[in-house]
Amino acid sequence: QSNIVKVKNIEKIQIGRYIVSPWYFSPYPEEFCDEPMIYICEYCLSYFAKERQLRRHLKKCKLLHPPGNEIYRDYDPNISFFEVDGHHQKTYCRNLCLLSKLFLDHKTLYYDVDPFLFYILCVRDKKGCHIVGHFSKEKDSQEGHNLACILTLPQYQRQGYGRLLISFSYELSKVEGKIGTPEKPLSDLGLLSYRSYWSETIIDLLLEMHSNKEEISIHDISETTKIDPKDILQTLQSLGALKPYRAQQIIFLSDSVLAAHKRAKKKNLVSIDEALLHWTPPR
Ligand code: COA
Ligand code: NA
Repeated sequence: QSNIVKVKNIEKIQIGRYIVSPWYFSPYPEEFCDEPMIYICEYCLSYFAKERQLRRHLKKCKLLHPPGNEIYRDYDPNISFFEVDGHHQKTYCRNLCLLSKLFLDHKTLYYDVDPFLFYILCVRDKKGCHIVGHFSKEKDSQEGHNLACILTLPQYQRQGYGRLLISFSYELSKVEGKIGTPEKPLSDLGLLSYRSYWSETIIDLLLEMHSNKEEISIHDISETTKIDPKDILQTLQSLGALKPYRAQQIIFLSDSVLAAHKRAKKKNLVSIDEALLHWTPPR
């Protein structure tokens, strides 16, 4: 790996009905970098230098969704998750990595997609399943990572999809019966999104236990949510929710933390319904 910072090399991409300006360098073949626009098939993620090449491709391309199993389908809203195996769908997954690198400044996975599963979030309409974002996950993570890389395409950001992807990664961990944590380092936006997910999930659980007059430890929170105890501690610290009490610490939620929590809940974003997940951990 070199220390040379590679500058953004792609001017614009067109994907589905969107035109998007990339944020960072991505190693698309050199001959594409001189083009004013790269045309991407929103289904198979193949890329073309000319619009007519994409049009010709679209006449032949049979895909209307990512090339994997649909493991989650909701009708309100119309969203689906597809699981794509890097080993079986090398081209698709490499194309996906190239595309996501445009919006990630440090993750460097492009070619060795075999050890990963990719979970693709789509919105469905009459035409097909349109990619919104995805996360990748190591098939066998020694470090307990339940997510390697996460991306919401810019045209879909700030609408709660990042949270939905994070929440989905923990639903998979619940099915596996394993505690999980995202691979570090997280980007600034990644950390913001995780902080927001962790806070909301932990506070929800604390409020529920409190109304049942039950006590709960960080270990219990972790077992229920599958959030790593370290991430729980950090979240509670960032909320200023840990107070020394006799020889130990207690969790204390201030009025301002509770008010912020209430405001966040009011946004009423899309959420995962575990009953709609049809998945067994791959063997
Ligand atoms: N500014 C401030 N806060 C932000 C933010 C921004 N640009 N983007 C996300 N957040 C925080 C907010 O608290 C937000 O909740 P709110 O909108 O209710 O305030 C919360 O994160 C979740 O936002 P959400 O809409 O669910 O996330 P998203 O769909 O925009 O996706 C990322 C978040 C991180 C996936 C997205 O920004 C992204 O793909 N970034 C580029 C790739 C990357 O950095 N990935 C992570 C590192 S591996
Ligand atoms: Na990450």
